[in-house]
Amino acid sequence: MEWGMANRMAQLIKSDGHALFLPVDHGYFQGPTRKLEEPRKTLEPLLPYADAIFITRGVLRSSVDPDNSKPIILRVSGGASMAGKDLSNEGITTSMEEAIRLNVSAVGISVFVGSDYEKESLLNLSKLVDEGEKYGIPVMAVTAVGRELEKRDARYLALASRIAAELGARVVKTYWCENFEKVVTGCPVPVVMAGGPHVDSELQVFEFVWDGMQKGAIGVNLGRNIWQNDFPVAMMKAIRAIIHENATPEEAQAIFDSEKGKEKKKP
Ligand code: 5RP
Repeated sequence: MEWGMANRMAQLIKSDGHALFLPVDHGYFQGPTRKLEEPRKTLEPLLPYADAIFITRGVLRSSVDPDNSKPIILRVSGGASMAGKDLSNEGITTSMEEAIRLNVSAVGISVFVGSDYEKESLLNLSKLVDEGEKYGIPVMAVTAVGRELEKRDARYLALASRIAAELGARVVKTYWCENFEKVVTGCPVPVVMAGGPHVDSELQVFEFVWDGMQKGAIGVNLGRNIWQNDFPVAMMKAIRAIIHENATPEEAQAIFDSEKGKEKKKP
C-alpha cells in the first residue's frame, strides 16, 4: 500500500484495529432529519468521541470548523431523495479534486445491489475507486437498501459487501444482522456496522454492536441510534467502550446510565 493510502487508513482505523465513525450525512436524501436539523448543534458535543465523521461537503463547510482535527469521510454519492421515485438512482456528486481540496481521509459512496440501478451504482463505485487509488484516498462503500429495510439479512448483506470489496472498496459499511459472521467472513476488507432507524432500547444497540465486534467487524458507522437518543454523548461513550475497550453490553449500559445523569436531555 502506498504511503498516502496507508496514512489515511491509519487515520480512520485506530492502532487497536477498531474504529468509531459518526455519520451525519443523512440529510443528503432525507433533508432535515429529526435531531439533525442543525448539524453543528448535533455534531459539536459528539466530535471528541468520534474517530471520524461521515459527512457531505455542504454540511462539512457549513457546520465543521476548519481547525477540526477529526478525519473526514466525505459522502460523494447522491442525486435521489425521499420524495423521489427511487433512492437507488444515485450518481457521484463530488469530484476527487474537491475531496482533496477538503483534505479528507476517505470518500464514501452507496451501492444498491439488487436494485434497478445496481449496475450504475456498482460502476460508480468502480470509477471512484480508480480515482481514489490515483491520489491515495480510500473509498468506503455503503451497502444501501433504500426503503427495503427487510433486505438486511446475512445472505443479501454478504453478497453486497463482497461485491463492494471485489470492486476495490477499502472499507465496507453494512448493517448488523443475524449470522453476521457470514457477512464478515466473506468480505476481505474491514467491515463497519450501521444502525438503521432509531430503536427504543439502548441495550439492543449495545448488544448488536458487541455481537458484530465478536464476529469480526472493526467498528461502527452509527448515526441515528446515537444522535436521535435523548442522551447522545452518553451513547457515544458507551459505544466507544465496546469498540475500544472491549466492554460488554451490560458494561456499556452501566456507562450509559451513569453518563446520562451528567447530560441535559436533548429536546
Ligand atoms: C445514510 C448512511 C448512513 O451513514 C448510515 O446509514 C449510518 O447511519 P445510521 O446508523 O443512522 O443508519 O449511509 O445515508
